[in-house]
Amino acid sequence: MMGFQDDRSKRLLITIDGPAGAGKTSVSKRVARHLGYHYMDTGALYRAVGLAADAAGVAADDDAALAALCRRTRIDLQTTESGLRVLLNGKDVTGVIRTPHISMMASAVSARPVVRDFLLNTQRTLGERKGVVAEGRDMGTVVFPHADMKFFLDADPAVRARRRFDELNAGRQGGPSMASVEKEMALRDKNDSSRVLAPLKPAPDAVYIDATHHDLDQVVAEMLMHIRCAT
Ligand code: DC
Repeated sequence: MMGFQDDRSKRLLITIDGPAGAGKTSVSKRVARHLGYHYMDTGALYRAVGLAADAAGVAADDDAALAALCRRTRIDLQTTESGLRVLLNGKDVTGVIRTPHISMMASAVSARPVVRDFLLNTQRTLGERKGVVAEGRDMGTVVFPHADMKFFLDADPAVRARRRFDELNAGRQGGPSMASVEKEMALRDKNDSSRVLAPLKPAPDAVYIDATHHDLDQVVAEMLMHIRCAT
């Protein structure tokens, strides 16, 4: 069921940026579902490149090899009944791109201009559909500077690490320790915000939401309230 009738006619492009573990994925999916929009997970695109590099033995700082890899790589996002599927050269890699190792690979390759250029076109093509919620690090700043509505979702590092720990350990034994999740997240935060190209930062016209003390429902409600005002 749609939330507001006029959303259908306007079909906005909405961006949600923020650091790892802030809740972007859950929030973006919920907002997209509520509005009947497409959900676009751009982190999954970087993860797919990270996986391809890892599988091919390409070092994350070897630009020539990364360029060659990108030329022979095709990545697609498919919306299905069971959620968003990520296809790497036609193969479904949705599950295997979520490991801590591939998170680090994704963060490392995402600092390379050759990879960002490669994925820029893919993202802009996907964004042309309108009626899109695009989640990432540079959606509002670089990829879609003219988006209709921009959000930056943040939370305290300790809260983000706890959420990511719970996610990675949900229903299974032998997941990563809290200490290793905290370490990985701190390193990724540093990589993603300090890189020269498209660093993680709020767009000047983004609505900043601090989710430290807010649950999913509260954040989604706040975003929908802003979206309603923009339509
Ligand atoms: O959102 P995520 O954790 O799945 O993203 C994985 C990595 O990809 C993240 O550490 C940085 C990179 N990334 C990026 O540089 N730009 C984006 N728009 C999305 C993700």
